Amino acid sequence: MTLLFYSETDAPEPWRDAFARALPQLPFRVWPEPGADEAVRYALVWKPEPGLLSRLPNLKAIVSLGAGVDHILRDPQLPQGVPIIRLLDAGFAQQMAEYSAYAVLHFQHRMQEFLAQQSNADWRQLDPGLTRDWNVGVMGLGVIGGHIAQRLAALGFPVLGWSRSARRIDGIDSFHGDSGLQQFLPRARVVVNVLPLTPETEGILDARRFALMPRGAFVVNIGRGAHLIEQDLLDALDAGQLGGAMLDVFRKEPLPSDHPFWRHPKIVVTPHVAGVTIPSEAESQVIEIVKTLERGEMPPGVVDRSRGY
Ligand code: GLV
Repeated sequence: MTLLFYSETDAPEPWRDAFARALPQLPFRVWPEPGADEAVRYALVWKPEPGLLSRLPNLKAIVSLGAGVDHILRDPQLPQGVPIIRLLDAGFAQQMAEYSAYAVLHFQHRMQEFLAQQSNADWRQLDPGLTRDWNVGVMGLGVIGGHIAQRLAALGFPVLGWSRSARRIDGIDSFHGDSGLQQFLPRARVVVNVLPLTPETEGILDARRFALMPRGAFVVNIGRGAHLIEQDLLDALDAGQLGGAMLDVFRKEPLPSDHPFWRHPKIVVTPHVAGVTIPSEAESQVIEIVKTLERGEMPPGVVDRSRGY
């Protein structure tokens, strides 16, 4: 019985050390080290190569190295019946709440314009407006979105939330479903997207939705690149319907160097850093998941494949 670790972006050493300390009897194999596929009982993965998991006949569980599982579900040969477990909050909620607060304050405090003014040595005072007039809408109200909404509310922003199915969070005006989205968007001066990527949410940030937002509104995307229709964003920015965007996730990552987002004056690009898996924050949760599975029980965070998260 072995745990197989697969990630082309996460260093395996801290994970190997953590498992050696907590579960020394469980052999830890880092892909592509050779080993018997039949021995693999658990796979701890980030963006696994399609087809890899279906070659492991005795796989008991697939654990995502992050909050999202779209990187696993996209595999057309994904073995059926093997539970997929995602990390619910391994430090992501705090990181993403900080990123969101930074993004909202960036737009409210006119940093986009001040940076442009500075490049022309242009001294001009611009008004941030009152915080209570900056309604922020959070799309996605799971563990991460709920935390983001509450942290923004604690800064004094009126916060609205939208999710696919109804959720209640203290102090947050919540909307859900298609009709809820029609009511939510016109009220949101900044939209922060943290939805999971599913067939229902793919392309949700499109021209039709931008047109429902107040003129000059801002978009912060820390969900997935495929939530956004890129050309619609460029058109909405150029037409002044949107005032700016801060984007951390992209359809193609790394964002190609000739992509128009890099040089657009109203877009801030960050390289998928809003919520990253830090081993020291996440390892106790991952180890608890494996220990729970070893006891023959199901840990929290089991993905409902039909919902996609
Ligand atoms: C990061 O994007 C994650 O899903 O954890």
